Amino acid sequence: MALRLGDEAPNFTAETTEGSINFHEWLGDGWGILFSHPKDYTPVCTTELGAMAKLNDEFKKRNVKVLAISVDPLDSHKGWVNDINETQGCTVGYPIIADPEKKVANLYDMIHPNALDNMTVRSVFVIGPDKKLKLTLTYPASCGRNFDELLRVIDSLQLTAKHKVATPVNWKDGEDCIITPAVTDAEIPSLFPKGHRVVKPYLRYTPQPNK
Ligand code: BEZ
Repeated sequence: MALRLGDEAPNFTAETTEGSINFHEWLGDGWGILFSHPKDYTPVCTTELGAMAKLNDEFKKRNVKVLAISVDPLDSHKGWVNDINETQGCTVGYPIIADPEKKVANLYDMIHPNALDNMTVRSVFVIGPDKKLKLTLTYPASCGRNFDELLRVIDSLQLTAKHKVATPVNWKDGEDCIITPAVTDAEIPSLFPKGHRVVKPYLRYTPQPNK
């Protein structure tokens, strides 16, 4: 059965471009992103892994470890990383899992045979410090993902894990948040001392609490 939000991220041991890792041990008590790409030495994947390399410091700032995967073998990954660095003007500073036997790909249901034969589609899993899945995304091979959106989601996930807010459409870090319906009007002044505004009884905004 497909993995769902709130499920524990399945653990595994795998070979990567940075050595063998046990996923849960490697995550430690921080956040993680596991993302699959269909194939090495392909154009869209090259741009994606380059973009992720350039954003890696932003993920590190947020205590998020990045891990890529495809069903290609290790020597292929290692050769291709040189191409990514050369063509995208970056240094890939995160591990890439070599999964030629598709163990991890199958564990995470990353192979969708009706869409792409025998390769992983573009899956993303965001894992919280409790090892639970906080976000899943599935894109087709033809469409490169927006990794800025992953940073935006991480900002929202980390904020809403600590404060009783949700984030509205197209929210970005620093913008007003929505007070969750479970908070009563009486609780608002103590929980949100920066103030609030009521548009409808169910639509209440407050400045971002952790800024
Ligand atoms: C690509 O990354 O360009 C790609 C990979 C597999 C199928 C189609 C495109």
